[in-house]
Amino acid sequence: MKVYKTVAGLQRHLNELRQKGAQIGFVPTMGALHDGHLSLVKRCLNENNICVVSIFVNPTQFNNKTDLEKYPRNLERDINLLKSVGCNVVFAPSVKQIYPKVDKRQFDFGPLDKVMEGTYRPGHFNGVAQVVSRLFDIVAPKKAYFGEKDFQQLAIIREMVKQYHIPVEIIGCPIVREKDGMALSSRNERLSADERKRAVKISQTLFKSVEMAKSHSVDEVKKWVIDTINEEAILEVEYYEIVNSLTMQSVNSWNDCDNITGCITVYCGEVRLIDNIQYK
Ligand code: PAF
Repeated sequence: MKVYKTVAGLQRHLNELRQKGAQIGFVPTMGALHDGHLSLVKRCLNENNICVVSIFVNPTQFNNKTDLEKYPRNLERDINLLKSVGCNVVFAPSVKQIYPKVDKRQFDFGPLDKVMEGTYRPGHFNGVAQVVSRLFDIVAPKKAYFGEKDFQQLAIIREMVKQYHIPVEIIGCPIVREKDGMALSSRNERLSADERKRAVKISQTLFKSVEMAKSHSVDEVKKWVIDTINEEAILEVEYYEIVNSLTMQSVNSWNDCDNITGCITVYCGEVRLIDNIQYK
């Protein structure tokens, strides 16, 4: 497995591989890798000759300085994990390599980024679009893999690729969960053992709500999910929205559209956790 820190070094290597006919797949990450990331890498390896993984904690997508500072980083551990699953190339650049000058681009994703994460983390998706478009330019992959846990992010990236005619196929991959249902996340590392035990209430409530949706309205399910999770003193729901899975806009009834997803953000102590569940 090769590890590159510079754009020039990475591109030289990838161009050689492409000349030999290799198809390049790409998994962008911010490191602190877990089995969710590794599932993306495995899928990428199955569908391409070469899997490139980037590890870059992108400052432009953090609207909260403490969140950026506290984001877990452990490059050596990440590299070893990637080696263990057969990843071919790691790209771990500095901020200067990704942003040689300040990126002033402003993206407009219409209604997609005016809700949920877009409301609570102003500028977040603009930063995600900046870094992902820059990484796509550098790596020029055929396919790129993203987890469905960041459900709205995936919709935004699909929209960006469409708007800017970027020739990369975007592949969404299912959430990977612990045995008890908790969605894997790099932020879980920041939970104490007690917080982790209690945080499982988030996914468990979402699972139960699917059953409830068979006999209750959207509003009733929404209220029940929020109230049930908030019953746990350490948990505080920031938002729970039940949305059209394509447009991210809230639905009023289960008959509004064909695909409906519930998207939640919950503070567990100081740690902001997200999850989602598909109703139909
Ligand atoms: O989902 C993430 O880890 C990040 O938002 C991404 C896509 C790697 C961009 O920094």
